[in-house]
Amino acid sequence: MPAFALARAAYKPDVQFVEVQILKLLSCTNLLAGTVEVVIYITSRDSRMTNHETVVGRANEADLDGILALQEANQMARGGLLSANLPRDRVAAMMQEMPLIVARRDGRITGFLMTTTRGMNADLPIVQAMFAAYHGTPDAYVYGPICVGEEERGKGLAQRMFAVLRDFEQRREGVLFIRKDNGPSLRAHLKMGMKEVACFPFNGFDFAVYSYIG
Ligand SMILES: CC(C)(COP(=O)(O)OP(=O)(O)OC[C@H]1O[C@@H](n2cnc3c(N)ncnc32)[C@H](O)[C@@H]1OP(=O)(O)O)[C@@H](O)C(=O)NCCC(=O)NCCS
Repeated sequence: MPAFALARAAYKPDVQFVEVQILKLLSCTNLLAGTVEVVIYITSRDSRMTNHETVVGRANEADLDGILALQEANQMARGGLLSANLPRDRVAAMMQEMPLIVARRDGRITGFLMTTTRGMNADLPIVQAMFAAYHGTPDAYVYGPICVGEEERGKGLAQRMFAVLRDFEQRREGVLFIRKDNGPSLRAHLKMGMKEVACFPFNGFDFAVYSYIG
């Protein structure tokens, strides 16, 4: 009578972890093919996979590809509204230094909210122009860019990512710029309670500087 092994993977918050464990188990049992019967019950796959639920949290290295893909899809050259196209190594470094918040849904990145220290992107001309227009407190950090996938907009995802960011950076000033013709972004950030504190022209566009205390 064949041996009987039962692997039951109940709910785990990290579905990839569950799947790796199952693959390991299957590769072990292959060695004993014909003698071991494995029945795997996955009683409850991660609810994010089955309920199409959006989960917001701090990004890690595994999110980099999804973040870069969303950034690429929203470049001005593609009709989007992102002013910067940050390279992979810079995004990876930013994520080490400051919280990078992401929204994940069905295994995809559907939103990101980046932050940097004042010094980290000080070489970017638009960041220089922002701080020339508004100095902020000495430990103020730079909020942005923020981006939500087109199909997910208008559902308050930007608000949710900001709420998570605030938990990480309490009582610290955040400073950001928004193109004055970007109505949805102006509305989203006013709803977050941010205030316009200055404005500056850059590359033929007018930008508003917004500030908030976390
Ligand atoms: C700006 C942005 C991050 C807001 O994210 P969001 O999760 O849609 O934000 P909210 O749900 O709070 O909605 C904000 C506003 O977007 C507008 N909006 C609503 N539905 C929308 C849709 N389907 N598509 C676009 N904008 C929509 C509304 O004006 C809404 O404000 P309102 O609810 O007071 O009417 C998102 O529009 C985006 O990624 N845009 C492209 C990149 C960009 O502009 N980044 C900001 C650079 S400063």
